[in-house]
Amino acid sequence: MEFNKTITFWYSNNKRDLPWRKTKNPYHIWLSEIILQQTQVKQGLSYYEAFVKTFPTVYDLAEASEERVLKLWQGLGYYSRARNLHFSAKYIVNELNGIFPYSHKDILKLKGVGDYTASAIASFAFNEIAAVVDGNVYRVLSRYFGISTPINSTKGIKEFKALASSLIDHKNPGFFNQAIMEFGAIQCKPKKPDCTSCPLNMSCIALEKDRIDQLPVKLKKTKITHKYFNFLVIISNDSKIILEKRESKGIWQNLYQFPLIESERSLDAHEFNELNLKDSPLNNLEFEFALYNDNDIVHKLSHQHLHTKFWIITSEESLENAISISEIENYPVPILIGKFIEEFNFSN
Ligand code: ADE
Repeated sequence: MEFNKTITFWYSNNKRDLPWRKTKNPYHIWLSEIILQQTQVKQGLSYYEAFVKTFPTVYDLAEASEERVLKLWQGLGYYSRARNLHFSAKYIVNELNGIFPYSHKDILKLKGVGDYTASAIASFAFNEIAAVVDGNVYRVLSRYFGISTPINSTKGIKEFKALASSLIDHKNPGFFNQAIMEFGAIQCKPKKPDCTSCPLNMSCIALEKDRIDQLPVKLKKTKITHKYFNFLVIISNDSKIILEKRESKGIWQNLYQFPLIESERSLDAHEFNELNLKDSPLNNLEFEFALYNDNDIVHKLSHQHLHTKFWIITSEESLENAISISEIENYPVPILIGKFIEEFNFSN
């Protein structure tokens, strides 16, 4: 009980003033949680404001085109989260008469919602006793109780969920959940936490045993694969450019990109010149090319590193299926391409 009281008292005095904490609207809370899975609070704020403003109700989100939703999500990455958000909004409108599900069990049925998000929405919006366990909570509990079970093992996931459930305040579950997450984010930080100012420092087992730096324990699992991308930035002299829609499944599904040639390794100009371009828009086209970035731009995803080169290709011929350069900003693109477009500054 000491833990519980200390954490909630600390939260009352130290919490950040965040817009999703001032609402009980489950749809808005859901938006905030999906955005915050993808980014830090500081960056997430402007996305949250934009989503709430553009799509104030679940009906507005359900009625929007996927392209519009992806465009608003642009910059956050992992677009499957935005697609799931859109899919679930349509499900709520079409199957649930627009009424947001109001129990952990039913919220969990929404695509893209796992135990953490369902617990967050059920407790914040409906005050259901459902304990949240996110990265912050794993850190606080593993340190305070001195638990070394890996947090990404089946055993660890069960153990920490059971512990959080045993601690949650039954009168104010949403408040307690916010408090323990905020405590992890601000006080019990991943690196160099200031334990001298911590209100739990008299009873924290990791601090007593000098194990703060070792907890929580996480198993290393994934092997990184490397891919080599050559984007063809094909520009005609009537200021048109080719963008293609990625139809295939994957994190960039339905986003737009420059025509892509994947290679086995990073290419130099000579090797690029030797490529078989039969299946690309460059087939039968007279063109000149220059390499934009000598060093690969490496885009790091959780399981893949994308080593990327942008090839600037100019042609005197007119291009088929091309768009005006001035329209490029209307298309949702992966962050990797968005950054290039910004930096390259086509209008100059
Ligand atoms: N991270 C995830 N959910 C959050 C919330 N509701 N407030 C602050 N940070 C969060």
